[in-house]
Amino acid sequence: MEAINQELEKLDNIMIKYISALKILETQLQIINDDFKYIKKYNPIEHIKTRIKSAESIIHKLEKNNLDFTLENVEEYINDIVGIRIICSFPSDVFELINIIKNSNIIKVIKEKDYISNPKKSGYRSYHMIVLVPVELINEKVMVKAEIQIRTMAMDLWASLDHKLNYKSEYGKGVVSKRLRIISDELNKIDEEMTELLCMENNLRIANEGDVV
Ligand code: GTP
Ligand code: MG
Repeated sequence: MEAINQELEKLDNIMIKYISALKILETQLQIINDDFKYIKKYNPIEHIKTRIKSAESIIHKLEKNNLDFTLENVEEYINDIVGIRIICSFPSDVFELINIIKNSNIIKVIKEKDYISNPKKSGYRSYHMIVLVPVELINEKVMVKAEIQIRTMAMDLWASLDHKLNYKSEYGKGVVSKRLRIISDELNKIDEEMTELLCMENNLRIANEGDVV
């Protein structure tokens, strides 16, 4: 117990790094969004959700992975203490944003999981990146890990309903999971149709601009 309390106290001390990393990421993403808005004439980011993982969740995740609660293990194995979820309007925005982040001199992508091109068996679709962000404290300059999840509104709708349903439904899991997979396909169709509409709108606008000139 004493050892856990000591680690908890140390965890408190390193949280400033993660809180600072979140501030830097939020600012940089806001800059990207503003510039994107200026170039594209629409807002590609619907909204951004952020969270800092609680000490309780950090300990729980270490336990799940059979790891002791030590500061070293926290820093080495918990990639999502800083969590950022970016919800975009269209799948094309998701991929453009991924490229912009990958080209950033501030955000360094160290790991990617493309659950959009390769959805999970559950039906989950999203793009995940583990990134490093530079944080300059008074006595320390460090690169801090964060997890960025990027997805469309349709993908996000599915993920949050899945989270609630699978969480609530223990005994009906088989049936519920199967239907959730079907719903994931239906929502994917909506994303595809929206992409078609976006292309159509783009072509009409270009043709119209041609007329004006
Ligand atoms: P975690 O230990 O949960 O972080 O998973 P991981 O290290 O295997 O990483 P992965 O990239 O697969 O998943 C990270 C996060 O994506 C999870 O914490 C969830 O937020 C989300 N996620 C992954 N799979 C699913 C899913 O099937 N349904 C929902 N709702 N969310 C998912
Ligand atoms: Mg997680």
